[in-house]
Amino acid sequence: MMTFYPYIKLVHMGAAMTSGTLFVLRALALLAGMRWPRAAVVRYTSYTIDTVLLTGAMMLLTILPAGMFANGWLTVKIAFLVAYVGLGIAAFRPARGNGARTALVVAAALCFLQVYGIARAHDPRGWLLWFGS
Ligand code: HEM
Repeated sequence: MMTFYPYIKLVHMGAAMTSGTLFVLRALALLAGMRWPRAAVVRYTSYTIDTVLLTGAMMLLTILPAGMFANGWLTVKIAFLVAYVGLGIAAFRPARGNGARTALVVAAALCFLQVYGIARAHDPRGWLLWFGS
């Protein structure tokens, strides 16, 4: 299984980037008053990308030794992921003013960036490492 590790990681990272990009595009379009972000085809495309992302994540989890997560980076990453999903769902609710929607989208995007930073750094502090000593 380790033979496939680099490919699985590439798929996981590719799906993560696609998922984040689609989220931002949909959010911006929604803020501009467009209707396509709520179209069924767009929603199902998003679910499919997220399924690929999570499948890759589960595969990586089973391949890698548990010691790799000893400093808790994965737990913190998942906590930010839950916040990202929750804020994203709230941002896409129909009965939402543009001000509140913008704030929710920005908060969700910041959580997504932190998920990415934590994954890259293998450290719960993620991008905050840059500001530390
Ligand atoms: C928005 C969601 C996610 C994003 C943006 C994301 C991002 C990334 C990135 C960029 C990497 C590569 C890190 C490196 O260069 O070593 C990675 C690896 C990994 N991710 Fe995710 N991920 C997400 C969701 C998840 C979830 C839900 C899980 C587990 C439940 C997970 C588990 C892992 C694991 C185990 C690795 C392997 C780390 C390594 O090989 O060094 N990821 N992720």
